[in-house]
Amino acid sequence: MTIHIGAEKGDIAETVLLPGDPYRAKWAAEKFLSDTRLVNQTRGMLGFTGTWKGNPVTIQGSGMGMPSLSIYVNELIRDFGARTLIRIGSCGGMQDDVGVRDIILAMTSTTLGSPSRGIFRELNFAPCADWGLLHAAAKAAERHETKVHVGGIYSSDVFYDERPDLNEQMVRHGILGVEMEAAELYTLAARHKCRALAVLTVSDHLLTGAALPAEERERSFGEMVEIALEAAFA
Ligand code: HPA
Repeated sequence: MTIHIGAEKGDIAETVLLPGDPYRAKWAAEKFLSDTRLVNQTRGMLGFTGTWKGNPVTIQGSGMGMPSLSIYVNELIRDFGARTLIRIGSCGGMQDDVGVRDIILAMTSTTLGSPSRGIFRELNFAPCADWGLLHAAAKAAERHETKVHVGGIYSSDVFYDERPDLNEQMVRHGILGVEMEAAELYTLAARHKCRALAVLTVSDHLLTGAALPAEERERSFGEMVEIALEAAFA
């Protein structure tokens, strides 16, 4: 048991999928895992453990934003022995050729914030995905219908952004999409010698204003979970 995760040590698998939304953790665990059991409900941040093709997997909500994700990922790695951590979430598209419902595999993540800033100070650390997971996810994605992009993303600290100039610079430098968690996940994985990846569905588009209709979210989300699981156990 930790401050934020009310599970016993053996309750958490070495492979953890991390949606921001705890209800998506429930949905994904019920749909994709076998022998699923609830292992955490502290603060309503639901976590489930089960098996996928015989492999133990935990799906734990991370909450929104890097400070929240940082709490869960620190405890998962340091206290529960998680070694492979894959964020499954949504992002806003930032390039013309990135459409809503496309999937982005985040090779790197640029950030202004991150709870790790206090460590790096004047250094600009470059948080990057685990190559083995990224490669396996790209291969897995070939078997799915959805268009997949691999490249850099932006982990912002704000959803309601008052600095459109920052987004403009991201667009100008080829950043594919914006979300709020991956940079801290990649930084923590690097610090603790774990594997991490973010698999993201484009739910809305900053340039076009397009948004994924509610009824399509589930299907897109499902494909993302499958790609994450296939990559984890490739
Ligand atoms: N900004 C930040 N995070 C997001 C967005 C966005 O536009 N869309 C989905 N997650």
